[in-house]
Amino acid sequence: MLTQAVPTFYFFGVTTGKSSSRRMFPAWAQILGLGAAQWVGVDLPLNAPLEQYRAAVEQIKRDPLSMGALVTTHKVNVLEAAHDLFDELSPEAALCHEVSCIYKRGGKLIGHAVDPYTSAQSMAQFIPPAYWSEHGAEILCLGAGGSAVAIVTHFLTRAAPPDRPRKLTLVNRSAGKLDFIRKLVASLPDSGIHFDYVQNTDPAVNDSLMAALPPGSMVINATGMGKDLPGSPITDSGLFPLEGIAWELNYRGELDFLHQARRQIEARRLRVEDGWYYFVLGWAEIVGTVFDVTITPAQFDQLAAAAEAIR
Ligand SMILES: NC(=O)c1ccc[n+]([C@@H]2O[C@H](COP(=O)([O-])OP(=O)(O)OC[C@H]3O[C@@H](n4cnc5c(N)ncnc54)[C@H](OP(=O)(O)O)[C@@H]3O)[C@@H](O)[C@H]2O)c1
Repeated sequence: MLTQAVPTFYFFGVTTGKSSSRRMFPAWAQILGLGAAQWVGVDLPLNAPLEQYRAAVEQIKRDPLSMGALVTTHKVNVLEAAHDLFDELSPEAALCHEVSCIYKRGGKLIGHAVDPYTSAQSMAQFIPPAYWSEHGAEILCLGAGGSAVAIVTHFLTRAAPPDRPRKLTLVNRSAGKLDFIRKLVASLPDSGIHFDYVQNTDPAVNDSLMAALPPGSMVINATGMGKDLPGSPITDSGLFPLEGIAWELNYRGELDFLHQARRQIEARRLRVEDGWYYFVLGWAEIVGTVFDVTITPAQFDQLAAAAEAIR
């Protein structure tokens, strides 16, 4: 274990040195008055041995100036490997079976999942209140991994009835992720949302699922395709719902799905969003939580501007 000399914020990822957060953090520390606080990247291979996840969490637990962490990619594995090291889990972390934010309060180590909240905050930027009940629109979510679980959790636990789609279709490569969401839905009170689960990797099938959506519906690319994996989950001839919404969760990479959607903005009167705001919100939420600071709207604007400057 290292004994840090200054308050330290860890970023658990795969190739953290490439993340823009490395350059963003010093500017954010200044805006939030975090003094000499430093950013330290922790590179862990995909599906690393359990001991590596445990060592990374132990460092925060044992060292007083190791304040906490933002976890990407390894959210599920960190919780699985280090479950017993956490003194508390937030209800969101327990529901989603993942930890994206590690922080300390009153000597306790806490594991939290911010995505149900930050994905909802992101959607609130481009979806007005009561949109779903007014339009009778649906959601087609391509990919049923961690971010899809967070979005589903938001609709099941936080969204008011007029802010819930009447139907949410989840498409995924493996059956396991679909089963996890099926069980999550069954474990919570009836939301009135009809869920469909489709195990599929054929983009032509996704095109037909899109074609069946009523006007105003939203299609989400939560597969990681166009960044983590090549390609897009739909073909170039797939038609987005008329007057609908296309939401690509990523903001960097080839972003094929985003480009396909942008080409239909006029013809389909489509609203197209990427994941930039989602990224900034997630980081702000976690840095604020780790350092126990409340971020004012004015400070958030400054953080967003600082992030934009190094984008
Ligand atoms: N902007 C932001 O701040 C932000 C926040 C969260 C996530 N994201 C991005 O959103 C993407 C998804 O994140 P995540 O955490 O949900 O990742 P994840 O847990 O790896 O989930 C991706 C899911 O997509 C499925 N998939 C992959 N290829 C597919 C295909 N061709 N057809 C159908 N399903 C397919 C995978 O299936 P298997 O079950 O077979 O693996 C997996 O369940 C990532 O690229 C991430 O970077 C961005």
